[in-house]
Amino acid sequence: MALALCPGSFDPPTNGHIDIVERAARHFDRVIVAVLRNPDKKPLLEVEERVKLLDDALGHLPGVEVDSFEGLLVDLAKERGADVIVKGLRSTSDMGYELQMAHINAALAPGTDTVFIAASPEWTFVSSSMVKQVASYGGDVSPFVPASVAEALARHFTSSEGRV
Ligand code: PNS
Repeated sequence: MALALCPGSFDPPTNGHIDIVERAARHFDRVIVAVLRNPDKKPLLEVEERVKLLDDALGHLPGVEVDSFEGLLVDLAKERGADVIVKGLRSTSDMGYELQMAHINAALAPGTDTVFIAASPEWTFVSSSMVKQVASYGGDVSPFVPASVAEALARHFTSSEGRV
């Protein structure tokens, strides 16, 4: 039973994230989507809300579970018995940072392999930060995120004055 870990901030989850998890689920028996709880950052959406939104968007995939974590990714990988970490790559500019993380994780826990899945062309320009910015100005983000995420962002920005 091969188990992959798909970690991220997912603030908010985008169609690009969903695409990577769906495609990882074709290659691995089980996939754990792991939402980082980062005490040093003030997220737009609470971790519990991100977990719920991912659960809603990925509920059709039987081998996929959504969880949150705090601390080192390699500790979660060990605790859950993950075989690999899966990350999406949208561009060469993603690659530098992603390779650095892959190398650090392998140095911290030798044998930790990171597998990269090339983002589908239609999502290469979509990022959580751009989605947040568009939503904060009342723009339509429905082409870029699951419907439940678009609704959560609209709720968030109509109930708060904040701009990203
Ligand atoms: O949303 P992102 O930026 O792709 O996710 C980054 C994430 C959550 C994978 C990364 O920040 C992470 O693994 N954080 C946990 C802390 C850790 O293990 N740090 C060492 C490797 S950078």
